[in-house]
Amino acid sequence: EAFDVMVVGSCMTDLVSQAPRLPKAGETIHGQKFFIGFGGKGANQCIQAARLGAKTAMVCKVGEDFFGDNYIHNFKDNGVHTDFVGQTSDAATGTASIVVNDAGENAIVIVAGANMLLGVEELQGARPAVSRAKVLVCQLEICPQTSLRALRMAQENKVKTIFNPAPAIADLDAEFYRASDVFCCNESEAELLTGSSVANVEEAHQAGQQLLKRGCGSVIITLGPQGCVVVKAQGLTSTHVQTTACATVDTTGAGDSFIGALAFYTAHYPTMPLEEMASRANRVAAVSVQAVGTQSSYPFRRDLPAELF
Ligand code: RIB
Ligand code: NA
Repeated sequence: EAFDVMVVGSCMTDLVSQAPRLPKAGETIHGQKFFIGFGGKGANQCIQAARLGAKTAMVCKVGEDFFGDNYIHNFKDNGVHTDFVGQTSDAATGTASIVVNDAGENAIVIVAGANMLLGVEELQGARPAVSRAKVLVCQLEICPQTSLRALRMAQENKVKTIFNPAPAIADLDAEFYRASDVFCCNESEAELLTGSSVANVEEAHQAGQQLLKRGCGSVIITLGPQGCVVVKAQGLTSTHVQTTACATVDTTGAGDSFIGALAFYTAHYPTMPLEEMASRANRVAAVSVQAVGTQSSYPFRRDLPAELF
């Protein structure tokens, strides 16, 4: 059994409050709505790829608790293979406390819990599957060394790697760049990693070139309503890929929808130009910002126009 997309990464239960604005330090404000959803960057990306039709497997760790049991059901409901989903009694399932304001912006605190206990042992168990997968995706909500090992394991087996350095850390191990076929981050992550401002398309081109020099195959910097910039080592091109305007309800997890879609296109259309994949992934992510929540807003293949496939 060979998977199109494998994700080694995080699962979080999202505890979401919708409020008119984000509270200041020491302040209590009234929100209008609360809901619990399935989140975590790793799982979000995996679920989006699965909903577009990719054969997926998740390598992750949840707690032996209600949230963890529930999460495993969620994977099964979405057709994600769960043999590499571990459960531990040593930590709780990860949680993300999220506040979303009326502009659709958010602030998030994650308590990674069981995610941090995903390690070498689980990775070894998944090795045969990883070595036969088409695409491997990693982020930074688990122990960074586990992500790096996973990326290397994939590369050694000629499996395409997509790395999303989120949430970003300023002193990211330089090995991550060399282990990434596609290095994909948003503007604030690009800022933190390069130390320069990434506030417009021009600056994104600059930052992309800078990140590319660190050794990755290609760089994508996502820019929300401005689409993204794609920088490729091959031919040294830098392209602004625009997206269509849409009404924004909740942008939480839009980047994960983009990456999940990118992983799907990479697996299913390996010869498609990266700019075209990014353009289509923009359109998938644009659907996600028009509804509340992360996974609850991710489209299925049947919801999308046929020209995206
Ligand atoms: O990228 C969005 C995700 O970040 C949310 O689902 C939340 O769980 C946090 O990890
Ligand atoms: Na959304």
